[in-house]
Amino acid sequence: MAESKNNDAFVEFERVQKSYDGETLVVKDLNLTLPKGEFLTMLGPSGSGKTTCLMMLAGFETATHGDIRLDGVGINNIPPHKRGIGMVFQNYALFPHMTIAENLSFPLEVRKIGKSEREEKVKRALDMVEMGDFGGRRPAQLSGGQQQRVALSRALVFEPELVLMDEPLGALDKQLREKMQFEITNLAHSLGITTVYVTHDQTEALTMSDRVAVFDDGRIQQCAPPDQLYEEPDNSFVAQFIGENNTLLGTIKEIKGDQAVVQLDDGELIDCKPINVSKVGERTRVSIRPERVEFNKERLQPGAHTLKAEVLEFIYMGDIFRTRLRVAGNDEFIVKTRNAPDQVRLTPGTQVDIGWLPRDCRALDA
Ligand SMILES: Nc1ncnc2c1ncn2[C@@H]1O[C@H](COP(=O)(O)OP(=O)(O)O)[C@@H](O)[C@H]1O
Ligand SMILES: [Mg+2]
Repeated sequence: MAESKNNDAFVEFERVQKSYDGETLVVKDLNLTLPKGEFLTMLGPSGSGKTTCLMMLAGFETATHGDIRLDGVGINNIPPHKRGIGMVFQNYALFPHMTIAENLSFPLEVRKIGKSEREEKVKRALDMVEMGDFGGRRPAQLSGGQQQRVALSRALVFEPELVLMDEPLGALDKQLREKMQFEITNLAHSLGITTVYVTHDQTEALTMSDRVAVFDDGRIQQCAPPDQLYEEPDNSFVAQFIGENNTLLGTIKEIKGDQAVVQLDDGELIDCKPINVSKVGERTRVSIRPERVEFNKERLQPGAHTLKAEVLEFIYMGDIFRTRLRVAGNDEFIVKTRNAPDQVRLTPGTQVDIGWLPRDCRALDA
């Protein structure tokens, strides 16, 4: 592909909509811009429109409305062989009748690259994924993990500027999946490849990505770096979908700037930060991460509201303690604490006061 025109907007979705049947929109007004070299993950439940977006970006499906541009040019105006997009899917899709080396050579032949250069590139691409010794084998003679490595190196062999991956590790066992997650991000970053990665696995998304776009119902609910997504969810869907989360239902009692008081349904008051709520009387679902709950009063702000909680269960997990509490009628309220020498182990049946910093407790849509 020619020299890039705009490194800040290498991939652009602008007001993209997609309908397969002319009635229901499976992608609704999608806006997304990727700078060159970014590793972006589309994360969301099954049916939320991730694969559809990837297929439109690859040029295999057309958008019903809106524009998708690659380096400033509409994707449907670039002939397929000039798109320079590498692709990896869950079911590898290696050609079974070809050897591994022939599989890798194929995308280079399509691009009319000469024999000696092909051999050199194939060798380099296989070495990159530590499969250099397997060029003469056929796909059926490799394990699932090895096949997926080959699929990855085949997607990279022609040095694409953009790689699209759709649940590429879904068929692998946990250990191999974690190893491959690490290999893929390392390769993408060291080669400076722009990557759009699709998964429904939130841990995978958080650990691999520069940014994660959380999909639900054909819309991006939030697009942010992993730490921001986890610590500052914009709405209840994102708070619930990413990581473990405690929620309590209530009504806004007071709002001043970035602090709010919420009256929980059992009457107690708590402090939180208003996010997508705006007025007194509005229903809200407050969200607090299990590791941000405090039962040591000295660590709370003076004047902070606290809540009465009953300890239901204490689980020793080695590095952390996981304690289940009853809070405002919710029996599944979880607190996680680090196993430090001075850490208190709460005893089931006892009562404690819990609290938090208002900024760690977010008042979201009910
Ligand atoms: N080729 C197709 N024809 C008709 N409907 C489709 C097609 N592909 C996907 N869909 C529908 O579009 C929606 C989004 O699907 P998809 O993009 O595959 O979601 P995801 O990858 O997030 O699971 C789903 O409701 C799915 O049934
Ligand atoms: Mg999919």
